Amino acid sequence: MAKIIMGIESSCDDTSVAIVSDGILLSNKTGTQDVHFKYGGVVPELASRAHQQNIIPVAQEALKDSGVPLSDISAIAFTQGPGLLGSLLVGSSFAKGLGLSLGIPIIGVNHMQGHILSSFIVEKANPEKLVPEFPFLSLVVSGGHTMLVVVKDYFDLEVIGSTIDDAAGEAFDKCAKILNLGYPGGPVVDERAKRGDPTKFRFSKPRIPGHNFSFSGLKTSFLYTIRDALKEDSQFIEKNIDNLCASLQKTIIDILIKKTENAMNETRCKNLAIAGGVAANSGLRERLTDVSGKFGWNLHLPEKKYTTDNAAMIAVTGYYMYLKNMFSTLDAIPNARMSL
Ligand code: KG4
Ligand code: ZN
Repeated sequence: MAKIIMGIESSCDDTSVAIVSDGILLSNKTGTQDVHFKYGGVVPELASRAHQQNIIPVAQEALKDSGVPLSDISAIAFTQGPGLLGSLLVGSSFAKGLGLSLGIPIIGVNHMQGHILSSFIVEKANPEKLVPEFPFLSLVVSGGHTMLVVVKDYFDLEVIGSTIDDAAGEAFDKCAKILNLGYPGGPVVDERAKRGDPTKFRFSKPRIPGHNFSFSGLKTSFLYTIRDALKEDSQFIEKNIDNLCASLQKTIIDILIKKTENAMNETRCKNLAIAGGVAANSGLRERLTDVSGKFGWNLHLPEKKYTTDNAAMIAVTGYYMYLKNMFSTLDAIPNARMSL
């Protein structure tokens, strides 16, 4: 009998449901929430309500697309944390109710673990896809986290560095907000950076020893550069928008690459993977490809659609947890600050 896992992701503003059969992804459907756009960020109360509206239709769509009848599901994996508590509650309550009614186990997945294992998403259309070999170093760059993790096995992870203040995604988003580029700003900065000169402006880089990251100094330096320039020319942002995006993106990438390079050298790892929303950034993907070629690292870049939040990564992680009998009980509670 195939082991079929339904994965549910509802940690932030995307409601996503995926079906994985014996480790192969059959379907992945996501309902995005437009309600936040006019507020310039995710409004937690509105996110919970939208999840409640979306979850059943999205689950039905994912099931239909997979061709799997509900009665064939072996277990339900859900994001237990970290994330917005109200949003997590919707996904976990749905998983518990459905699991109870079908008489099948539930599996609480750590969202960050899911991001890290996104490299193991193998689509039905491409079953021969290469996945990273253990051990590998994972550069995790999302909206809330920036980490360097040595992945020795699916569930043997060692966090060797993390951010002491803002995450890389937050640096993109907060600086994009200063430029009035909307939320989330990362994808817009990425697009504009392609047309700009990355050497036009210089912003401060942190001097943090070891493998930890810091991005709040960069944000302040970015803000002050703009504030001072606007005093001279009120059109400064409009005139320089592409160069500002390119220079900001280059600074963030420089910080990430330097730390990754140090960590690869120190751990003597030969395999590297990236994960999290910022892993969709085209500049970062290019630079990582270049340095990996230079140093002979085996680089694994997950497909862009699996770098931002998705249920496929939760279902795949749930599948490997299922194989190890890592089940949750019905009193499992969502954890907004769950650590790896
Ligand atoms: O992993 P994710 O979808 O959600 C969290 O778990 O946080 O990451 C969202 C973050 C946001 O900060 C967003 O601006 C950033 O990923 N992001 C990007 C790009 N696409 C998404 N940042 C830079 N370039 C992109 N192309
Ligand atoms: Zn995420």
